[in-house]
Amino acid sequence: MKTKKIYLDAAATTPVAREVLDAMLPYFSERFGNASSLHAFGREAREAIEKAREKVAGVINAKPEEIVFTSGGTEADNLAIEGLALAHPDKKHIITSAIEHPAVLETCKTLEKQGYDVSYIPVDSEGIVDLDRLEQEIRDETLLVSIMHINNEIGTIQPIKKIAKICQEHGIYFHTDAVQSFGKLKLDMKKIKVDLLSISAHKLFGPKGVGALYVRNGVKLKALLSGGGHEQGLRSGTENTAGIVGLGKASEIAVKKISGNEYKNIEKTRNKLLERLLEIQGVRLNGSKEKRIFNNINVSFQGIEGEALVLMLDKKGIACSTGSACSSHKLEPSHVLLALGLSELEAHGSLRLTLAYPLTEDEIEYVTSAIEESVRKLRRISPFK
Ligand SMILES: Cc1ncc(COP(=O)(O)O)c(C=O)c1O
Repeated sequence: MKTKKIYLDAAATTPVAREVLDAMLPYFSERFGNASSLHAFGREAREAIEKAREKVAGVINAKPEEIVFTSGGTEADNLAIEGLALAHPDKKHIITSAIEHPAVLETCKTLEKQGYDVSYIPVDSEGIVDLDRLEQEIRDETLLVSIMHINNEIGTIQPIKKIAKICQEHGIYFHTDAVQSFGKLKLDMKKIKVDLLSISAHKLFGPKGVGALYVRNGVKLKALLSGGGHEQGLRSGTENTAGIVGLGKASEIAVKKISGNEYKNIEKTRNKLLERLLEIQGVRLNGSKEKRIFNNINVSFQGIEGEALVLMLDKKGIACSTGSACSSHKLEPSHVLLALGLSELEAHGSLRLTLAYPLTEDEIEYVTSAIEESVRKLRRISPFK
């Protein structure tokens, strides 16, 4: 079989789209101005940033002034949680879930060390947050609920509309990490009462190192960086004009994709691939089949180690992962899969495939055969049998 090159790790990152790169390039060279400068060079950069802000806001039906540009999703999560905590020191209880991204979990742990109480809500076997438990945890001191929209490992979609309603009824702030859903699923800030929402460009064919936090008008945050007071005082530092323009362009393209057929086509080919993979002996699907983002597959193969499988597939030109890119160096079982109730052994046998484009029939065939063959080989030499 001739080796193909197939990228199946879109949840880790995506390439910068050609149109996005073309939009960015002038801002590295001839349009290099500092957006805070008063002269024409500065005004040109400012104008580009404000246009990008409108485009980003447009994806979620927010107002442009509710978008604060950051260095990415991690910073957006930190600013949302820690920034809100610093601005409201009288309330010291936070509710989050057991399956959040480390950018949320580690921020919560930092706050715990500073005297905060954090409740980690469990998920069911499909990876959906237990809403009854969430509501039971709410107390007078509860400041914030932070629950991600789409999980980066298993792709499950949380009922954020219901969570937002619960938070609104109890007068609590609601933050959602939408890094994996922004520009992929329809989101309307006029219809869902989310207070804070994290965004990252590089999951969306935009550049790495740029993102944004949506901050609903009237929500008070304290900045985490001291400096010149850029971004309405919430994020000091000379704006990354080219990056922001890239996020704006990626947002504009994503809006068209949401209403077009591209995502539906990805889903169709994802379903075909998943169907084929589920025919392999000793496989299980991790996470909900229905409440799942259109491009995600996460499966566990009995009796093998996911890392070994990823390396074998890499040799066959297939790029995928065991779970999140950030935990892949730790060799610890995924906290997300353990929260679903998988044993450590089952969690170690996981494989995540996330599509950036619709796959061809040939590619589906190639990936299925490569996985089947690799799983067979690994099982033959597995110490877990
Ligand atoms: C759900 C989620 N939150 C936050 C992040 C962090 O985003 P960034 O890489 O832009 O810092 C990621 C990236 O992997 C993610 O998947």
